[in-house]
Amino acid sequence: MKYYDMHEDAYKQLKAKDKISWDGETDPSKLFDHEINQAIGKRIDHFFESKDGLKAVDLGTGTGTAALNLARKGFSVVGYDLSETAIELAKKNASELKLDLKFEVADIISIKTNDKVDLVVDSSLLHCLVEKKDRADFFKLSFDLLKEEGLLFLHTMIEAADMSEMTDREYLVYENHILYSTGPERWDMKWMQVQGKKVFPHRYITTTEMLEKEIHEAGFEIVESLVDPQVKSTGTFCGWLKKR
Ligand SMILES: C[S@@+](CC[C@H](N)C(=O)[O-])C[C@H]1O[C@@H](n2cnc3c(N)ncnc32)[C@H](O)[C@@H]1O
Repeated sequence: MKYYDMHEDAYKQLKAKDKISWDGETDPSKLFDHEINQAIGKRIDHFFESKDGLKAVDLGTGTGTAALNLARKGFSVVGYDLSETAIELAKKNASELKLDLKFEVADIISIKTNDKVDLVVDSSLLHCLVEKKDRADFFKLSFDLLKEEGLLFLHTMIEAADMSEMTDREYLVYENHILYSTGPERWDMKWMQVQGKKVFPHRYITTTEMLEKEIHEAGFEIVESLVDPQVKSTGTFCGWLKKR
């Protein structure tokens, strides 16, 4: 399954080392301080004064980083992820934090739901979707899920002026906004030759201008956004979007 093997393997390795998140945390309560929760936390009370009766969906929830925080704030939450191991860890994290929310294994490219929610969160998933069609499907799902006045929060990688942290790594190749990676051949990925290496497309790293165009074409407009020019190896776009 597209996008599956590398993510599932990564979570299996984390679980084997008693880690409880993509970033290698060991304490579930530390997830509340994660950069995505800090970014959401800056404006969530402004956009949603009361969370009573409000619903949120977390796409690419992983081990529940954003979903757990939204549940703690009072939203009724469902977190979706492709990886069974991630969802198993997310459920364990929820139980340890005594939070009541749902987690489901699902490929967001084929989710079917009639649910309507107030908030959709892109939990650093969009940059994992490298094909144009998959990214369009992500935006369509978000659009269909949202109530008319609902908001989509994006947290996604943006190309930085200095991409050397990516290009200096032997297992990565960066070309035309796609970060390619080498990996075990048993992974069912879209293998290809790029710059003399056998790699698969791993991340889509857009520019702000390209992302703004994509957002517009998907039927959204930006209510507020902030681009942190370089967090770690790339920039990060944090944006609150509404339907146009
Ligand atoms: C960069 S990780 C972020 C994980 C988590 N949100 C966090 O912040 O710790 C991206 C997540 O997206 C998930 N993912 C990738 N492609 C997906 C898809 N097509 N459908 C659902 N989840 C997907 C991966 O399994 C992974 O958990």
